[in-house]
Amino acid sequence: MSLANKLVVTALKDLAPYQSARRIGGMGQIYLNANESAFPPYQMPENETWNRYPDFLPTELAKAYGRYANVSPDNVLAVRGADEAIDLLIRTYCEPHQDAIRIQSPTYSMYEFVAQAHGVAVETVPLNDQFALNVDANQQAAADQKRLKILFICNPNNPTGNLMAVSDIIRIAEAQRDQAFVVIDEAYIEYTPSDTLLPMLADHPNLVIIRTLSKAFALAAIRVGFIIAAEEVLEQINKLIPPYPMPDDSARIGINALSDPGIEYMRSCCERVIALREQARKELILLDAIEQVYESMTNFLLVRFKKASDAMKHLLNAGVVIRDQTHFEQLPQHLRISVGVSKDMQEILNQLRRL
Ligand SMILES: Cc1ncc(COP(=O)(O)O)c(C=O)c1O
Repeated sequence: MSLANKLVVTALKDLAPYQSARRIGGMGQIYLNANESAFPPYQMPENETWNRYPDFLPTELAKAYGRYANVSPDNVLAVRGADEAIDLLIRTYCEPHQDAIRIQSPTYSMYEFVAQAHGVAVETVPLNDQFALNVDANQQAAADQKRLKILFICNPNNPTGNLMAVSDIIRIAEAQRDQAFVVIDEAYIEYTPSDTLLPMLADHPNLVIIRTLSKAFALAAIRVGFIIAAEEVLEQINKLIPPYPMPDDSARIGINALSDPGIEYMRSCCERVIALREQARKELILLDAIEQVYESMTNFLLVRFKKASDAMKHLLNAGVVIRDQTHFEQLPQHLRISVGVSKDMQEILNQLRRL
């Protein structure tokens, strides 16, 4: 039995997907099967079909992403952002009030939040003081292995900005091979593309990769993300997806961003972000208020201040909003700064010089 069939929650095991009008399909000239409006909406171009429901799943978008990521479209599921990917994975494979996920802390908070919202327990394994994976603790912590269904690894990690060692991820994935999914959240992978775990998917069927167009592709507003995994893994998730999940406009904008010139533009933006990030890092480290600026493989910097609360307050008074990370035990004086355009980076530096 595949891992997907073994781990899928009982409620989904024999559930037949909802048969929406689009899913049932049928070709004709007159479509009166989905209770759509007979008339176009207010002030929208009439030649566009805004009154019609979109495709069940935008196959062209999955194809475009497959081309970009060099994987078969059968292994790509387009979803509404990486956050929905996290939600779908937990709801498909974790039984409420019984199963658990594992996170490597400090990390992206949504894994924990979504699990808690669905009554799924959260096991936390702290990263070590270099923010690397603690492989031994992961192997030992598998004491109650039966309830552990998904391990989330954010790579590069938010909020620490570093990459995890591939060998560590693979050791963890291999130890969990027939037992749990290891989900790699590659939301920031475009800033360090050669470090993707995608080439490992074929040999490690319990690996699942999450991607998004929200970061390097600069499309946070359209809510497009992807789950890349073995077909059986996606098949179970598909059962949960509502009838018309992806707005037509989002699919269209996403496909355009994934065209050859779109990808080239994204890559040139990444280069500019990396240059801005490294420049900011050099300048931040010189400031009296700052103790450490961590190396980053992303579009943000994690900074340890002498007194984070003073810096946060001062910046907020100046209208500069950054992200407090002091709720993490390992990050007591740490703030996270997204890389902005040159003018904005100059402004934050000027403000911090006044601290
Ligand atoms: C690590 C990580 N994963 C997922 C997301 C959410 O991405 P999306 O906008 O695609 O939902 C974020 C957003 O900040 C993130 O940092």
